Amino acid sequence: MAMIIDGKKISGEIKDEVKAKVEQLKEQGKEVVLAVVQVGTDPASTVYVNNKKKACAYVGIRSLSYELPETVSQEELLSLVQELNEKKDVNGILVQLPLPRHIDEDKVIMTISPEKDVDGFHPQNVGNLSIGRKGFVSCTPAGIIQLLKRSGITIEGKECVIVGRSNIVGKPMAMLLIQENGTVTVSHSRTKDLKEVTNRADILVAAIGKAKFFTAEYVKEGAVVIDVGMNRDENGKLCGDVDFDSVEPKAGAITPVPGGVGPMTIAMLMTNCVEAAE
Ligand code: GUN
Repeated sequence: MAMIIDGKKISGEIKDEVKAKVEQLKEQGKEVVLAVVQVGTDPASTVYVNNKKKACAYVGIRSLSYELPETVSQEELLSLVQELNEKKDVNGILVQLPLPRHIDEDKVIMTISPEKDVDGFHPQNVGNLSIGRKGFVSCTPAGIIQLLKRSGITIEGKECVIVGRSNIVGKPMAMLLIQENGTVTVSHSRTKDLKEVTNRADILVAAIGKAKFFTAEYVKEGAVVIDVGMNRDENGKLCGDVDFDSVEPKAGAITPVPGGVGPMTIAMLMTNCVEAAE
């Protein structure tokens, strides 16, 4: 029987801490403002964006909505970002990804001022993370570190295996776990014997985007299993990359989906917005 890591509860605690800080800043006459840019009307993106705006309202951050049509040109989007960069009263800028195919995502990310890049996607922030300097850190991996720490799980000296090497999760996750003195392996779709690799893990971070892929035979007895997946199963029900029912009896601790990593991403976004304002 594994300890269930309650991301909903822990994210609630973080949001309450952020709320107190936002109030403090307000007393000093500083308002925290996040600009949220969405291009098109992808239903999944709309859900994410709405959840982010809801969290802003809860903690007292003012969110500004910029909803652009699917057909917006790259120039128009870049000029909006530039305009937001220059606005003194905007602390953070978030452009929801993915963007339509005709827009160069990299170019958009590079245009966001690193000081307002609350997603931590700008190369300057990514570079700072990789050399242990201060800067914005991608929200999902930062949230996973908080989940582990606030659940009393030690990272130092542990075998940490990440499955997935994305710029948003896998790579920054590796940097953060190294910083916490974990021994880190990054595996991915071309890894030869994935089962052998994941079975070494004291801490396993599953981020490959395949519904219920990781069954008990991928997991070492007593391992901490962090599920970053957000998929739909055969019945259309939300599920992770981990087959929870199979893995839970074998794991030492596990995050559920929903209610694990997901809410932490948003809590860390709120943390980053306050940092941007400070
Ligand atoms: N799309 C999926 N995850 C994210 C995220 O963390 N930030 C942004 N901006 N877009 C996303």
